[in-house]
Formats: sequence, C-alpha cells, structure tokens
Amino acid sequence: MKKLWQKNNKKLDPVVEAFETKGDLLMDQKLIEYDILASIAHVKTLNKLFLIGIISEPELKKLLKGFEEILNLYKKGEFDLKIGDEDMHTKIENYITEKYGDIGKKIHTGRSRNDQVLTAIRLYSKNALESIELELTNLTKSFKGFSKEYGYIQMAGYTHMQKAMPSSIGLWAGSFIDSLENDLTLLKIVYKLNNQSPLGSGAGYGVPIKLDREYSAKLLGFTRVQQNPLYCQNSRGKIEASIIAALISVLQTINKFASDVLLFTTSEFSFFKATGKITTGSSIMPQKKNVDLAELLRSKVHLVLGNYIQMVSLSSNLISGYNRDLQDSKKPLIESLEITLETLMVTKILLENLTPNKEKLEAAMTEDLFATEEVLKQVLKGETFRDAYKQVGKKYLKGGDTNEKDD
Ligand code: ARG
Repeated sequence: MKKLWQKNNKKLDPVVEAFETKGDLLMDQKLIEYDILASIAHVKTLNKLFLIGIISEPELKKLLKGFEEILNLYKKGEFDLKIGDEDMHTKIENYITEKYGDIGKKIHTGRSRNDQVLTAIRLYSKNALESIELELTNLTKSFKGFSKEYGYIQMAGYTHMQKAMPSSIGLWAGSFIDSLENDLTLLKIVYKLNNQSPLGSGAGYGVPIKLDREYSAKLLGFTRVQQNPLYCQNSRGKIEASIIAALISVLQTINKFASDVLLFTTSEFSFFKATGKITTGSSIMPQKKNVDLAELLRSKVHLVLGNYIQMVSLSSNLISGYNRDLQDSKKPLIESLEITLETLMVTKILLENLTPNKEKLEAAMTEDLFATEEVLKQVLKGETFRDAYKQVGKKYLKGGDTNEKDD
C-alpha cells in the first residue's frame, strides 16, 4: 500500500517496515473506530470552511458515506490492518481515495497523523474509562449487597497478621466499598484530564488555516479544546500515565481483597467457602481445590505497574514535540485499560461465589480479641490506661494462646 509520505517509488526495507509497524498495527486495529470518528469530525470542520472551497456539501456527503462504509467493514471484521498498510490513518485515507477518487486526497488538509493519533487515543481512553467506571460501580454494588446479607456476622480483625480486635463482615466489606469509592474519584479526575481535544493541533505547531477547533471538539464529545498545540504532543504519555496511575489504584484495592480471600479460604481459616464455579484443581493432587482466580486477580496490579513504568520512561527524555518513541506507548495504555476492565468484572464473580462460614468465623472470635475492650472498661471504672493495659496484658501472656517463645 502506498504510504502517505511517499514521494517517489523508493521502497522501505521490508525488515525495517515490519519492525516499525508490526506491533503498532495490532494497536491501531483497536483504535480504528475512533480514528474514523475523528476523521468525520475533521471533514465536517473543513466543510465549515466551504467558502474557501476545501470540502463542499456534496463532497462531505460522499466522504461521510465512505467513512460509514469503513466502520461497517470494521465491525464485520473486514477492515484488518496488515504489514504494508503502515497504519490506520494511511489505510483509511487510501480506502477513500481508491473508492471515491480525488476527494480522498482532501481529507488530510490541516491535520497530521500526530494530532490524529492523539485524538483516537483520547477517544478510546474516554470510552474505556466509562466502561471501567460502570464496572467499578457494579462491583461496589455487589460489595454493598454482600455486606447487607452477611455484614452482621462477626469476624476477627488482624494486625501484623495476628489477631487484634473484633471486626465484622460489614466492616471488612465496607473497607472495599470505601476504597472503590476513592478509586472512582481518581478515575473521574483522569477522565477529565483526558477529556480535551487535541484535534486541529496538527503536527504540534498548529495549522495555518482557521479550523474551528471548538466545533470539532464538540462533535467528538470533548469538554474542551487542548489549546497549546505543542503541549498537545508533550502531553502524550503524560495523560496516559495519569490514567494508568488511577487504574493502579483500582487494582490495588482488588489486590488486597484477593489476598484476604486467599488467606481466609485456606483450610486453616475456612472463613469463606468458594463455589466450584471459581475454583480449579491440581493435575497431581486429587484433594486440591484452588482459589487461584484470586491469585490471578492479585497479580494484575504488578502487570499494570510495569506498564506505568514503561509509560513514564517512554515519554521522558524526549525533546518537545512528536517523537516516534511515543508510538510504543499505545500498548501499555490499551493493555492496562483492558486488564482493569476484565479484573473488575471477574472480581465481581469471585465475590458472588464466596459464602461466609459463620461457624468458623464465630469460633475465631476468641477472648483475646476483646483485650483492648477489657482495658477500656477498667479505665471507665477509674484506672489509668497504662495500669489497666498491664494488668490485662499479664492475663494473656500467662499461659494464654500466644506465639511468644519461652526464653
Ligand atoms: N503510528 C504513529 C504513532 O502512533 C502515528 C503518528 C505518526 N507520525 C509520524 N510523524 N510518523 O505515533
């Protein structure tokens, strides 16, 4: 396929071409829809300039038909990018030009692949973040339901992994509800940061025709125009890093929940039972029932943290403006958004397949958990806290169930 930048018949070395585009085409395949939406907004903006005759009304109609066709082909899985296509921008422009002739040659007026790719990524992220917010809200609701049903059941509370104070399923589940609500606040902040339109900023230095950037931003559903064209480019990787940071916060919440589930479903604890829908077995040990789903949920924060590091390092040490290193930032972003969405959906399934084992939970409510309460009862009777603390403490150190080694 002819490249947009090709000025003669000289061909790129095929090994170089594959190296430059192979991985990126896989990412562009996921972004195509958004690149088309951005192209539609761009040609409509050019049409607004029709007095100077860039794109007339009948031409606009034909172009919109062409873009619609590509969208339909894409949805049917018939618009697949292959090595040689260069990228989604090239394939789309070439399709329109081959099918509709010269009007295809007009669509790149006043834009660059640099602002195109930024716009497609922002639109993709907007959509993905909306789905993530929805799934996060669904998971929060599941925790609320879980708490409503089982919240009254007492549960031992731990510090340093040792029994500490009385707690309850309500307190435990509530901690994840609060954590998810905080994560939602962060997601909304990065959503806002991402919700600015880079379209019309060109290669990074604006374009010498008066494009109505407010208009294209509005058509695409952005709340504002990202004004400084150079910063549009410089924010590539930065906004993505903020998004990934918010995703890490979500995955941290899930990591803690998963760790708790893994401990509390061991045969030693048996605080919760997991149904056969979410457990797997061992190929050699016939007795095994593994809640390895929780392990795979727990691991995700580490994968996404790796993506965060990739994102921050890829976008650092570059001079202002577009640098092609940034092409490699698509993968860590897209992968992180996909991982987080799936993780939220699957965590909900895990939660819905857990049942508290009331007997075991109540049996774990041993007297030592109430030691601090005993101290405070004596304080209310007039003792100093420290004296009461020592007195109660003696009772538990003496022959009590303690992990302290006799000297
Ligand atoms: N694939 C490129 C990227 O993701 C698109 C922009 C290319 N721009 C350029 N000047 N070569 O960054």
